[in-house]
Amino acid sequence: MTRTVTITDNETGKQIECPVLEGTYGAAVISTKALYDELGMFTFDPGYATTASCRSAITYLDGEKGILLHRGYPVEQLAEKSTFLEVVYLLIHGELPNKKQMDEWSHSIKMHGMTHEHLSRFYTAYRYDAHPMSIMAGVTSAIASYYYDNTDIKDPENRLLTARRVMGKIPNVASKCYRYASGLPFVYPDNSLNYVENFMYMTFSWPSEDYEPSPVAVRALDLLFILHADHEQNASTSTVRLAGSSEANPFACVAAGITTLWGKSHGGANEAVIRMLEEIGHPGNVKKYIERTKDKGDPSRLMGFGHRVYKNYDPRAKIIREACHDLLEQVDLNQPLFEIAMELERIALEDDYFIERKLYPNVDFYSGLIYQALRIPASMFTVMFALARSAGWVAQWMEFMEDEDFRIGRPRQLYIGPKSRDYVPIEERE
Ligand code: ACO
Repeated sequence: MTRTVTITDNETGKQIECPVLEGTYGAAVISTKALYDELGMFTFDPGYATTASCRSAITYLDGEKGILLHRGYPVEQLAEKSTFLEVVYLLIHGELPNKKQMDEWSHSIKMHGMTHEHLSRFYTAYRYDAHPMSIMAGVTSAIASYYYDNTDIKDPENRLLTARRVMGKIPNVASKCYRYASGLPFVYPDNSLNYVENFMYMTFSWPSEDYEPSPVAVRALDLLFILHADHEQNASTSTVRLAGSSEANPFACVAAGITTLWGKSHGGANEAVIRMLEEIGHPGNVKKYIERTKDKGDPSRLMGFGHRVYKNYDPRAKIIREACHDLLEQVDLNQPLFEIAMELERIALEDDYFIERKLYPNVDFYSGLIYQALRIPASMFTVMFALARSAGWVAQWMEFMEDEDFRIGRPRQLYIGPKSRDYVPIEERE
């Protein structure tokens, strides 16, 4: 028998049966499709805290237990054994590749690593001190102008080609954001390098010097990219899906995701964590700062703490925390900031305010420290996040394009404005 939930309007006595949909894991979902037709009502759920906006087979996360699976594989195993480019393949195709598939995948992504030469001029329209996220969103959106008449979002082969294009070009775009801000000449990709090495080469190489990315840095970056690759229906991913629902160009959809990710409640938090640690300045000041974040009269929050879904330790944060410690032994991690971070983590985790509200360090609490150790400037942190999350955006966009429920996203509202009234000519208004 199909499970249903009965909704009763206690004013009219009218009842409807709403079917309950069960997924592989997680909370069951009440389908309220018939609600408006039968009862003339909408649901109200600001922040979509209890709304499943889609069916998805890509990522599962259980915020209470701290579980994160990509296509069924625990993120811990992927972090330990896989590479970012393999995870991208997994997210997009649903299965891990065999050796031949992986070679072909890696080759095809490299083949899409160049951008049109004219696109380089686009950067120069930005002021020298423009935020790299603003540049990244603008340039990514501009790429849509090169792929609008030959992009057929209804064709699966063409969608896969789009995925390759996005993943091939995004490191190129990201690296130029950095180089433009640093006054450095742009660097073409070197296809003898792997995905992360190539990104580092395009970003950090010096025109007059040989460049060999440090294996420690490459592995740390690859790990961070894996951990940021996808995270279910978060704000930026939902934005990409919503933009995609109007059949917008996929590069424009990714640009919309980048713009959303920039916010400090989302991907911008990693930059905000470093700014916060710098503001604290010394481990001795941590207690006082934490008191400020608990004060309702003070708008500041403890950046890198809390998550809409995780009410337990973010599994990605656990992995990054360990990587931070490992990195500390191998490269010159910013020791004073790291010490402040560790003191802040210690005090917050023992504080009743954070315990009662289940506020744990999130992935952004540690990722900025690793980026800093790799000499990546704070303004670039969210760009790194966007590069990695492009994998999830593309995979989710592709899944949505194939969804039997695909239709334009159009939320409804609870109107609380004035009742209908007549226009008053300006001379007659008080
Ligand atoms: N510092 C202090 N108090 C906090 C924090 C924090 N970082 N986060 C939540 N709270 C408090 C709220 O004030 C609220 O307290 P109250 O119940 O007394 O009113 C309670 O905890 C619940 O907070 P909400 O705002 O309802 O939580 P929500 O799920 O809407 O927000 C969010 C989640 C945006 C991540 C929030 O925790 C936050 O702003 N954190 C800091 C920014 C951050 O690190 N963002 C990165 C998120 S991870 C990512 O995007 C990759």
